Amino acid sequence: MADSSFFRGRRLRRTGALRSLVRETRLEPGQLILPLFVEEGEGLRVEVPSMPGVHRSSPDRIVADGREAVEMGLGGVILFGIPGRKDAEGSGAWAADGIVQQGVRALKEACPDLLVMTDVCLCEYTSHGHCGLLDGHEILNDPTLDLLARTAVSHAQAGADMVAPSDMMDGRVGAIRRALDAQGFSAIPVLSYAAKYASAFYGPFRDAADSTPAFGDRRGYQMDPANADEALREVRADLAEGADLIMVKPALAYLDIIHQVKERFPVPLAAYHVSGEYSAIMAGARLGWLDEGRAMTEALLSIRRAGADMIVTYWAREFARRWRRENLG
Ligand code: PBG
Repeated sequence: MADSSFFRGRRLRRTGALRSLVRETRLEPGQLILPLFVEEGEGLRVEVPSMPGVHRSSPDRIVADGREAVEMGLGGVILFGIPGRKDAEGSGAWAADGIVQQGVRALKEACPDLLVMTDVCLCEYTSHGHCGLLDGHEILNDPTLDLLARTAVSHAQAGADMVAPSDMMDGRVGAIRRALDAQGFSAIPVLSYAAKYASAFYGPFRDAADSTPAFGDRRGYQMDPANADEALREVRADLAEGADLIMVKPALAYLDIIHQVKERFPVPLAAYHVSGEYSAIMAGARLGWLDEGRAMTEALLSIRRAGADMIVTYWAREFARRWRRENLG
């Protein structure tokens, strides 16, 4: 005879309606941000080989992605640029007619209501692929701040709704905040990639954005994957410098960091489900080893459950498509 006093968790798992009623974490298109790669040229839309379903598009073609993001009810898009030319300083990053600036203008013109964010960094624009100015093989911190601030201001001038510095130079949030305020953009929020780790999971992105460092690696500025306390110090510093939203990156290997940051800092928290996390699941699915939809949804749900309010993910559009099919019939 079964004991009537023991816990019967299965009672609430019997039907879809019961499971839905007691579901603790929701995942909706409005919580997802789609990264877009904009490349110099015209009529271009080329799939990134290591990222199935992700494209590099010229400004005239990127507007279709923007329209789709609006139509699907996504939270917004974040823009990465692939310039035609690179130089030692990365001057394409802050050029008034730079590729991200062109992309922002095209998107905001076609879709005024779309939330357009920009990634602020130099690595896609420097000939050496590092995120700051160089002295020999040293990546200089303070001289880079001014260039990052100029880049953020030029994105705001092009019409960006939010800027997201991802370079990991110390003091960049404050430098960007001051420059934006001085140029009349005090209403533009800063989303700081506060805890950004030196991760192997950025591999496919560097293919997509042609931003692999020409020498060395990024461990001198991005965080050591072994550290958690340090992530809290980074977050505290960026908030003190004026960050409005905080990001942890990557996501899946850092769920503990997402959780700790959310527990300690009551601010909007984003997590970046990065290229390698995306491509690993896509590759497994292509090999027939796992189910794309279920694996991806489970991964994104775990990131929300850990404490992220919003997720940057290459799967945002595909999630929205499936979500709509399920919810709207
Ligand atoms: C630029 C930047 C990178 C990513 C976002 N912004 C690359 C890097 O730091 O090497 C990675 C995103 C991804 O892997 O999806 N610094």
